[in-house]
Amino acid sequence: MNSDTKYDATLHKNAVPYYKDISYREAGKFEETRFEKIHNVIFKSSDYASIIVAQEIAKLIKDKQAEQKCCVLGLATGSSPIKVYEELVRLHKEEGLSFSNVISFNLDEYYPMDRGNVQSYHYFMHEHLFDHIDILPENIHIPDGTVSQEDLHQYCIDYELKINAAGGLDFQLLGIGRTGHIGFNEPGSHYNSVTRSITLDHLTRSDAASAFFGIANVPKRAITMGIGTIKKAKRIVIMAWGHKKAGVVKETIEGLITSDIPASYLQEHNNTTFVLDQEAAEELTRIKTPWLVGPCRWNKKTKSKAIVWLSQTVQKPILKLTDKDYNDHGMSGLLAEEGSCYDLNIKMFNKLQHTITGWPGGKPNADDTNRPERNTPHKKRVLILSPHPDDDVISMGGTFLRLIEQDHKVHVAYQTSGNIAVSDEEAIKYAEVVKNVFSEGEGYGNIDKMIADLKKKQENVIDSIEVRNLKGLIRRGESFGATRFLGLPDAYVSFLDLPFYETGTVKKKPFNKKDVAILSKLIKEIKPHQIYAAGDLADPHGTHKVCLDILFKVLEDLKEEEFMKDCWVWLYRGAWQEWDIHDIEMAVPLSPDEVLKKRKAIFFHQSQKDGVLFQGDDSREFWVRAEERNQQTAQKYHELGFAEYEAIEAFKRYHF
Ligand code: F6R
Repeated sequence: MNSDTKYDATLHKNAVPYYKDISYREAGKFEETRFEKIHNVIFKSSDYASIIVAQEIAKLIKDKQAEQKCCVLGLATGSSPIKVYEELVRLHKEEGLSFSNVISFNLDEYYPMDRGNVQSYHYFMHEHLFDHIDILPENIHIPDGTVSQEDLHQYCIDYELKINAAGGLDFQLLGIGRTGHIGFNEPGSHYNSVTRSITLDHLTRSDAASAFFGIANVPKRAITMGIGTIKKAKRIVIMAWGHKKAGVVKETIEGLITSDIPASYLQEHNNTTFVLDQEAAEELTRIKTPWLVGPCRWNKKTKSKAIVWLSQTVQKPILKLTDKDYNDHGMSGLLAEEGSCYDLNIKMFNKLQHTITGWPGGKPNADDTNRPERNTPHKKRVLILSPHPDDDVISMGGTFLRLIEQDHKVHVAYQTSGNIAVSDEEAIKYAEVVKNVFSEGEGYGNIDKMIADLKKKQENVIDSIEVRNLKGLIRRGESFGATRFLGLPDAYVSFLDLPFYETGTVKKKPFNKKDVAILSKLIKEIKPHQIYAAGDLADPHGTHKVCLDILFKVLEDLKEEEFMKDCWVWLYRGAWQEWDIHDIEMAVPLSPDEVLKKRKAIFFHQSQKDGVLFQGDDSREFWVRAEERNQQTAQKYHELGFAEYEAIEAFKRYHF
């Protein structure tokens, strides 16, 4: 492990050291990180971590200014550094930080790529940073995606020479790709590689697919600084946010140095810090299985996590775990604290058993001491928030159905219009239907023009308002299909069309007062006893996370209202992920019949079937993913020793 500790987690109030007790943490420091080969710090939120990174950059710039020297920065694009740039712009505008002594070199650029293309890194850097600060234009260097094929080789050599001529990189900011790439140094890159043109990995292209409206539009090549170029930087900060990066973060920090994970070469750099949020750190041994790295401070959460892990690791139901199983797997300390495995097993078994309920709104007239929900009031006002028009049925279609059947007053609100996820072909289909039925579509402009425009539309062109309206209407129609099928009257369905989403592009605006006011108004009207919301905390810039942040803001604003004292918030996970078993606080089993009904409800969202625009890296249809996920949760419960259910939907309570 490198000895540099510039980011001492204990110094920052929002940093989350694993051990709450600092002195204990210090004592255990060596053991705690013994699997780790790159210095790293874990923060509760990527926003706060980004501010700390920006402060380090700002300090470096100022130190260099004091010495009357230039500051040579290596810069990255992508979602990871966006908040860092936001903070640097703030420091410039509000605190007078000057970039006049900064010389910047960007890591990479797609090839071929026009500078004006909104997907170009040239565009990105100007939009997020350069247009808002006082850096001299001649000091900005970004690999040029327009260089001809014949000149490319020499161009790359010159780029490298320019970095050297500027005195080398004082600081290099990095993100990490899921392939383990830094810059665009994909697996196979040599540790001595220099600036060159490369072919992008399929996974990298599929991660970029949504921004390019489909993988077919993502360039196949790029220009990138080499590993050798990056490693020469005097200081490197690499950032990773979100659950999706957790696997590659672990391999980079704990694995062998290998060209399969080019970021692992950073293990050899003696001044690198990996800055992580909790989700990106979750696979690190000290976080995932802290009992394997040294003495562990046991609390309720670690106990649950450890016992579920033990049961899964030794493949035995909880009630069959023995003292030897605990001792053999680093959990002797827990046994010593608790006495015997017999008591531990029973406690854990009961705890998990109590999460299972067929009554998500509470069971009337039943003792609710050990149930996830209160039994009163018997008929609850329930608000289901769905970021896009389909997350409700995909993530909690079975629970939705039960809530209606158990006579609760259910209201569903679709937070965004979801219009950008409707393909042009789908829009043409509907426009033609509208045309044939009404000969002219009211509110949709000239329908013939719309059809003609859609038919000749180029990639990456933003839809007109009329086309967006039409696409939004398609999703509304599909949502009504699903909610009617589940038995919910139309009067209990709202479409919030939150303004932050309405950019017509993948990139959304930050949320503002208007978004908050819309949701706040709805919650005040409904006065819900339960709110269900998508708890996708791991997706730093996605729509789900923004929708959740808006809800958190509203909850904070309304927390003193009388009705909010009786309001419980349950978080479900979106289409991509499920809660870990030890996190689940309410598990709602579905019968085979309910699974089929849920499937049919998802089918109503036809525009989201068959290779949709925002499929992510999982090519399965949403209904298949949802079903397999719910079946896997049921299977996991069964393997821990509980009854065998067809499927289970899972929720975690959010305490505000
Ligand atoms: C960007 C770059 C890439 C990204 C990486 C992570 O200039 O070189 O290595 O840093 O692909 O991308 P995000 O941050 O979007 O997850």
